[in-house]
Amino acid sequence: MSDCAACAVSVTVENVTPWEGEILVPRAAAPSDAQPLTALIRRAKAHWGYPKEWLDAWHRELVISPDYIRQQRVVLLAARGEIAGFFGLELRSPLAHLEHLWVEPAEIRRGIGRKLLTMACADAKDKGYRTIELVADPNAESFYLHHGAIRVGEVHTAVLGTARVLPRMQLDPEQLLLRSRAKSG
Ligand SMILES: CC(C)(COP(=O)(O)OP(=O)(O)OC[C@H]1O[C@@H](n2cnc3c(N)ncnc32)[C@H](O)[C@@H]1OP(=O)(O)O)[C@@H](O)C(=O)NCCC(=O)NCCS
Repeated sequence: MSDCAACAVSVTVENVTPWEGEILVPRAAAPSDAQPLTALIRRAKAHWGYPKEWLDAWHRELVISPDYIRQQRVVLLAARGEIAGFFGLELRSPLAHLEHLWVEPAEIRRGIGRKLLTMACADAKDKGYRTIELVADPNAESFYLHHGAIRVGEVHTAVLGTARVLPRMQLDPEQLLLRSRAKSG
């Protein structure tokens, strides 16, 4: 038996997707994935053009530790050992929190983010959650709005003296799954 909470994730959407002729397979992250997932986060965050100094200043936030993988639900999509993206979902009370959703920059806008978000919604719904909350990067807000999330507040923060306002958003996992099924026919 695994010590990884995410191993219990049941993916109720189709569990493979075509990717350059390869099959992307979902799997629960293992503690040994912590370093490659952390590196992926930094590359994905850099996709928005943030300066290196900001990325360095965020090093405590832009990290996945082996303990985080043991304690939370971290699920990735991979093909031939290459990780295309992953999500990290925290099942708290009363809401589920999507703390991580990252796609390898070369694979952005190829349907992987939608697949990961759908898997996270299926997981949250399966566990009885009716709302997922997340704090989005401002550049990703439109992605979540596109998937039916609504803005419910703001988080005021700062990096190296520059103020930032991050959208706090909520998503109904059942609604997203219904929309996703309707779209795929
Ligand atoms: C945000 C992110 C996860 C989206 O993943 P993605 O794989 O590029 O998104 P997809 O290709 O699956 O897009 C799915 C749908 O959302 C739309 N979409 C994707 N990014 C969008 C954006 N920034 N704004 C509006 N719509 C967007 C796509 O057009 C597509 O629409 P369709 O369903 O009508 O075809 C990805 O861009 C990413 O990892 N960015 C960098 C890291 C980051 O900011 N992560 C989020 C932290 S909160």
